[in-house]
Amino acid sequence: MKSLIGIVSILALTACGGNGGNDKSAASTDTTASPANPPAGSMPSAAATEHTAHPGYALMQSQDCKTCHAVDKQVTGPSFQMIAAHYDSTQAGVVERLAKKVITGGSGNWGTTPMTAHAGLSEQDAEELVRYILSYK
Ligand code: HEC
Repeated sequence: MKSLIGIVSILALTACGGNGGNDKSAASTDTTASPANPPAGSMPSAAATEHTAHPGYALMQSQDCKTCHAVDKQVTGPSFQMIAAHYDSTQAGVVERLAKKVITGGSGNWGTTPMTAHAGLSEQDAEELVRYILSYK
C-alpha cells in the first residue's frame, strides 16, 4: 500500500513537473511514504561476506577478536563495518593509533565496555588486523 502511494506520488511529481504549488505537496507526500524505506542501520548487509583474500584475514583467525567483534553487527565491541565507517584509513596515523589500542586495550571511544589487551601481538600484526577491519568500508 505504501509503495503504491510512493508510485502515485512519483507519477504526480512527473505529471506536475514545473508547477511550483503542486510540487510542494508532492514532496510532502513523499516524506510520509519514507518510513516504508529500510531503516538506516540495515544498510547493504549482503556485504557481510568476509574479505578472506585480505592478508589480515588469516591472522585474525588465530586471534580472539571474533569473540567480541563481527563484520556486520555489534557484539561486545563495534562491528568491523562500524569501525571502518568511523575512521579514515588514508589519514596519517590512524592505523597506528588503532593498532596500539588493540595491543593495550581500553574503552571510551564506543562506550564503557573495555577491549581486552593483546600484549602478545606485534605492532606489525596489529596494524595488519586494523587494515583488515578498515577494509569493510
Ligand atoms: C573482550 C572483547 C574484545 C576482544 C577480544 C577484542 N575486542 Fe576490539 N573492541 C572491544 C570493545 C568493547 C571495543 C570498543 C572500545 C572503546 O569503546 O573504545 C573494541 C574496539 C576495537 C577497535 C576500535 C578502537 C577504537 O578506539 O575505536 C578495533 C580496531 C578493535 N577493537 C580491534 C580488535 C582486534 C584486531 C581484536 C583481536 C586482536 C580485538 N579487537 C579483540 C572488545 C574486544
